[in-house]
Amino acid sequence: MSRETNTKYLVIALPSGRLLKPSIQLLEGIGIDLKDGKEINRKLSFCNHEKNIKFIITKPKDNPTYVECGVADIGIVGEDILMEDKKDVYKLLDLKFEKYKMILAAPERENQVNIYNNNGHRLKIATKYPHIAGDYFKKKGIYVELIKLYGSVELAPQVGLADMIVDIVSTGRTLKENNLVIIDEITPLSVQLIVNRIGYKTKHDKITHLLKDIQQSIVPTLDKTK
Ligand code: PRP
Repeated sequence: MSRETNTKYLVIALPSGRLLKPSIQLLEGIGIDLKDGKEINRKLSFCNHEKNIKFIITKPKDNPTYVECGVADIGIVGEDILMEDKKDVYKLLDLKFEKYKMILAAPERENQVNIYNNNGHRLKIATKYPHIAGDYFKKKGIYVELIKLYGSVELAPQVGLADMIVDIVSTGRTLKENNLVIIDEITPLSVQLIVNRIGYKTKHDKITHLLKDIQQSIVPTLDKTK
């Protein structure tokens, strides 16, 4: 992106995947035309010239990276990613998309498992979030073996790769389908609007204007995890 584009336009990084649709709905709801997402197929950047906004489409996990380095002024990201990767960005607003949480879960048969005393056997924990899981067990003073996975974490206890998982839960369907139960709730999470620290100063008026419009349009959603 040219320097000129970067100063003239507000650059918004939209996450691909499950957050894309609610993100598009949110922006269209405040009058920013995204043609109902039709341009977003394999095209990863496009402009709304009328509003001087440029959109880029990122993998959810990469979203804060684009915002931290200033290629994008604003991003939309789940707090699980922010907690795990600890990027230097401002969290501006809880977007009240679906609520979800970080949990420790185990196979149903081990519901009564004592994580402090596992018969002298060191617990194996499968997770996409090794930093969050590591911090959690460190605080509890429990020494575990962390197994980093990139997805389908619920499979690990079934096939004997791990004893338990640390993962996010939203509707709870995936846990249920895989006969896992929540042992502990680590933290509640939400989807956040994030902003680049310098961009927040240099494009303050534009960002504040957008923020106000979004704040007025969002309505709290139910916590489906309860
Ligand atoms: C996430 C998460 C759980 C699932 C929870 O995985 O890691 O597996 O969603 O959602 P639920 O409580 O509504 O069932 P994702 O769909 O991102 O896929 P992945 O396992 O490939 O990472």
